Amino acid sequence: MPEPIDLEYDVVADDYQTAGEASNNLKETLKILGVNSSICRRAAIIAYEAEMNLVIHAGGGRIVANIDENKVEIKTIDQGPGIPDIGLAIQEGYTTAGDHAREMGFGAGMGLPNIKRNADVFEIDTKVGVGTTLRTVINLKESPI
Ligand SMILES: Nc1ncnc2c1ncn2[C@@H]1O[C@H](COP(=O)(O)OP(=O)(O)OP(=O)(O)O)[C@@H](O)[C@H]1O
Ligand SMILES: [Mg+2]
Repeated sequence: MPEPIDLEYDVVADDYQTAGEASNNLKETLKILGVNSSICRRAAIIAYEAEMNLVIHAGGGRIVANIDENKVEIKTIDQGPGIPDIGLAIQEGYTTAGDHAREMGFGAGMGLPNIKRNADVFEIDTKVGVGTTLRTVINLKESPI
């Protein structure tokens, strides 16, 4: 990868028709860049779960990806309701998804735990009533000793 690549996507609230397009485009772009398939898979899971959280919980937002020879960094930025208790939110099975999201097959409370499991760096910055920023990094190179 000679040049760093920056990608940015707008994600629309509550739109289950277009949901998944941003993370799918990111995954295809990584494949085209020749990123190995295991890393592509991890990035696709992170991006998809983060995108769906923007759709379902955050009133939409943005996904930003920065890719270079050392890392795939995926961030989401939203101005949604924020997360009152991050420790609770990252527990498997915890969800506040409403009926509609559940009818669409979401709300297992597995998104954030899956993101965390697939990321080398996992950070959430959130403020109730202001919004949430999620930052993840997948390392592409082994760290020295
Ligand atoms: N960007 C966000 N803004 C506000 N709340 C969020 C955001 N992302 C996650 N949450 C909160 O954290 C909870 C857990 O998120 P998680 O992705 O693990 O599960 P889920 O979205 O409810 O279900 P699933 O991801 O399995 O469909 C959500 O139910 C919601 O309350
Ligand atoms: Mg989720």
